[in-house]
Amino acid sequence: MGGPTMAVMALKCPEIEVVVVDISEPRINAWNSDRLPIYEPGLEDVVKQCRGKNLFFSTDVEKHVFESDIVFVSVNTPTKTQGLGAGKAADLTYWESAARMIADVSKSSKIVVEKSTVPVRTAEAIEKILTHNSKGIEFQILSNPEFLAEGTAIKDLYNPDRVLIGGRDTAAGQKAIKALRDVYAHWVPVEQIICTNLWSAELSKLAANAFLAQRISSVNAMSALCEATGADVTQVAHAVGTDTRIGPKFLNASVGFGGSCFQKDILNLIYICECNGLPEAANYWKQVVKVNDYQKIRFANRVVSSMFNTVSGKKIAILGFAFKKDTGDTRETPAIDVCNRLVADKAKLSIYDPQVLEEQIRRDLSMARFDWDHPVPLQQIKAEGISEQVNVVSDAYEATKDAHGLCVLTEWDEFKSLDFKKIFDNMQKPAFVFDGRNVVDAVKLREIGFIVYSIGKPLDSWLKDMPAVA
Ligand SMILES: NC(=O)c1ccc[n+]([C@@H]2O[C@H](COP(=O)([O-])OP(=O)(O)OC[C@H]3O[C@@H](n4cnc5c(N)ncnc54)[C@H](O)[C@@H]3O)[C@@H](O)[C@H]2O)c1
Repeated sequence: MGGPTMAVMALKCPEIEVVVVDISEPRINAWNSDRLPIYEPGLEDVVKQCRGKNLFFSTDVEKHVFESDIVFVSVNTPTKTQGLGAGKAADLTYWESAARMIADVSKSSKIVVEKSTVPVRTAEAIEKILTHNSKGIEFQILSNPEFLAEGTAIKDLYNPDRVLIGGRDTAAGQKAIKALRDVYAHWVPVEQIICTNLWSAELSKLAANAFLAQRISSVNAMSALCEATGADVTQVAHAVGTDTRIGPKFLNASVGFGGSCFQKDILNLIYICECNGLPEAANYWKQVVKVNDYQKIRFANRVVSSMFNTVSGKKIAILGFAFKKDTGDTRETPAIDVCNRLVADKAKLSIYDPQVLEEQIRRDLSMARFDWDHPVPLQQIKAEGISEQVNVVSDAYEATKDAHGLCVLTEWDEFKSLDFKKIFDNMQKPAFVFDGRNVVDAVKLREIGFIVYSIGKPLDSWLKDMPAVA
């Protein structure tokens, strides 16, 4: 998030010098190369325009923090894996070490901006770390959470729905808010820059992600009922979404939400509710995560139950591994749970994704829960290998050759225009398609001869008597 956000800031504010610093040398090397460390439409163009002019990438974190007036902290804030709050609370190790470093190297006053998503009242802790070691230097902490979505990050940064800045209600706090507002005002209309107190800004980010994820879990819960009753979830979502109070966006049923933020941020919200003695509020949000888990397992179980209740030794093609299209990001992708479930049932997987590298897929399928958000040397890799059961290939036709079934797990556009007749001819019969993103033309595929399962849609007669249990 830090790289793309600061690259756009450099592009829009040519008189401001922006230096993106990271302790990870490979990442910085990639930012300085022709192959950026992340895939994001439009990002390369932005970086090429500013790199070497007013945008720089460096591992010399201390030097550039020392020289700066405003420090944006965008470090990772994973879910804790051990100790108090494990599996829910945010792990602020990386944030705390960044704050201590800022305190150590600073010789002039600075505005420190929380860009990472953090628990509400983190700014208070950060303030304590900074002022405790401040040697008389003044630090102002601002909360400026980022709302970009991966896959559309550059578009979102150019035209954000809003920019949110929270700060202290003191003269110095308000001055800091104004300084940051002036930066964004280079390209964001001032009426879209919302200024609040620190705690509202911090909590609004968690609330926004919880609301978005809740919409997906709502429509996914509905998709299970659609399958049971013969309703079509696309029609239901359209009918519901035309109500202007509800709106049409974020109502696509799918195999489940993923990405680095939704689950992590809801778990964090649940933990904060619990810590504040609000178990009912915590349980409400817990259900959003539970329905997401249910949807992923429901999908995998549907695959197994449709294929005579066993996938042992059967080749299953997995089309798409990224958590959504137009990104190579696999963090918390539903594909991990679906693949692991099928591997546990002894299936042989042949995986193709246009953007995700084989090494990443293998790592994801071997990693312990929540470990993806920690540096590679700290990740625990499962002892038992998955290598014999998983094959990663470089195109959809190779993935589906001689397969018994294919699962669409990411809505990549290229999957819509595949030659399904050719695919059908090269698959074992009966040939199954399990569409976890509702991207294929089910009517056309049935005409070709496939047995098709589309999430939340009326079931093929073949599938009707099969249990849809999770
Ligand atoms: N990815 C998104 O779309 C998105 C959107 C909005 C908010 N966020 C939030 O932004 C934060 C970062 O997310 P991300 O996806 O960019 O994570 P990331 O893991 O891709 O990036 C974090 C980077 O911080 C670096 N880092 C860690 N400690 C450091 C230190 N002390 N000094 C310098 N660099 C350090 C890491 O090496 C890593 O490259 C999280 O809190 C996330 O919730 C992410």
